[in-house]
Amino acid sequence: MARVLHVETPLRESVPLSRIAGCTVFLKLENTQHTGSFKIRGIGHACQQVWNTANEAALCMAKEDGCTYVHPFDDCLVWEGNMSLVHELKATMHGQPGAIVLSVGGGGLLCGVIQGLREVGWEDVPIIAMETEGTKSLNAAMAAGKLVTLPEISSVATTLGAKCVAERAFHLATQHPVHPMVVSDKQAVSAVCRFADDEKMLVEPACGTALAAIYEDVVKKLQLSGKLDHDLTSVVVIVCGGSNITLGQLEIWKDQFGISST
Ligand SMILES: Cc1ncc(COP(=O)(O)O)c(C=O)c1O
Repeated sequence: MARVLHVETPLRESVPLSRIAGCTVFLKLENTQHTGSFKIRGIGHACQQVWNTANEAALCMAKEDGCTYVHPFDDCLVWEGNMSLVHELKATMHGQPGAIVLSVGGGGLLCGVIQGLREVGWEDVPIIAMETEGTKSLNAAMAAGKLVTLPEISSVATTLGAKCVAERAFHLATQHPVHPMVVSDKQAVSAVCRFADDEKMLVEPACGTALAAIYEDVVKKLQLSGKLDHDLTSVVVIVCGGSNITLGQLEIWKDQFGISST
């Protein structure tokens, strides 16, 4: 039996974020994967299927060029791998969460989470799907009712920079209760800074985009507009992580967006 390449990540209650949100906020700490993000779940799973079914062929190919292409978000094995995150939530939580917050690039994480929710019987858990202004391919598709290709990507959340989401992500988002929401780059970077102060963890802006749902009261606004329950028991934020960040780069972004240290 092949060993999985990802690790089970902790689910931790956050006191500072719960205070802001007005309900219990759990952090699913994907930034603690060895690779720094949830990506190893889907890509690792996809690679392993290559390994399991075509080891011999792969070894021959490896002799030639040593390369295998795994799509970062538009691959059913990647979605299947990302589903493991929901199974861990199901095993760790006492009941189903009131909502799940995640960020969207090409939508591989979104697909995995929706498929996982269906598999564990949590198909009515709403998802808050976060993008930045400059990467809003899901928001644009949901508004247009069809896939949209953005003319360009203009955001510091570069790993969310898919000009068009996977068709499956759009399709699932129209079937599941998904609230696509947008924040600015400044809000995403500000969330990175506040999270470092609150939780002592440094994540990249792609992850700050999800955290901004709490820091910028996106969840509260959805509650006020009646799109989310007023009395949410809990919210799970998928802290997707990412390695595209250093303290030096964060300082540059803080200057660029006029974010002062508190
Ligand atoms: C840290 C991080 N968060 C979120 C995403 C978005 O994932 P997806 O493309 O599956 O929507 C990525 C994509 O690379 C990422 O690196």
